[in-house]
Amino acid sequence: MKSVLFFIGYMGAGKSHTARKMAARGAWEVRDLDDAIQQKTGRTVEAIFREDGEAAFRKMEMVVLNGLVVEPKVQIIACGGGTPCIPGAMDWMKSIGYVVHLNPPFEVIERRLKSVNEKSQRPMLSDSHGKAKSDVDVKALWELRKACYARADEQINGLPAASDFLRWESALG
Ligand code: S3P
Repeated sequence: MKSVLFFIGYMGAGKSHTARKMAARGAWEVRDLDDAIQQKTGRTVEAIFREDGEAAFRKMEMVVLNGLVVEPKVQIIACGGGTPCIPGAMDWMKSIGYVVHLNPPFEVIERRLKSVNEKSQRPMLSDSHGKAKSDVDVKALWELRKACYARADEQINGLPAASDFLRWESALG
């Protein structure tokens, strides 16, 4: 395994949660890409989408991700749901690190995303007028992204098990 561990997956897949769990178990520096974008810009992800649009957000995502990767101490990064689908991003992440796709069943993701709080914070779950997307559209985006998520180095279908954490830990040293 290489030196940076990237967690990818759809919104609600558990990327930030799993990264935080890793952090709690050891001495690794963990970063959440959305949080890092918010810190760097002083704006919320929702405001960036609303004011600048998705394309501008994707550019920012790559710039901030590059910045995290070159920080010598950072070893674990929870990406945004769309990060690996940015053209070139997956190849680049695989070339410098190890990419884990957290892939719980869609029903689990859907349940998590149904909470009011979750929905209001995620621009990809609303249309351009700010109206919540239908369940069908949320699933269609998940279907669309399957192909890029499938290119991860590793697929975790369900909750990560203790043995997964142990394997990632020993690989990170
Ligand atoms: C996005 C997912 C979000 C955030 C942004 C776009 C996406 O991250 O990066 O709202 O395109 O799926 P989470 O997956 O952490 O919600």
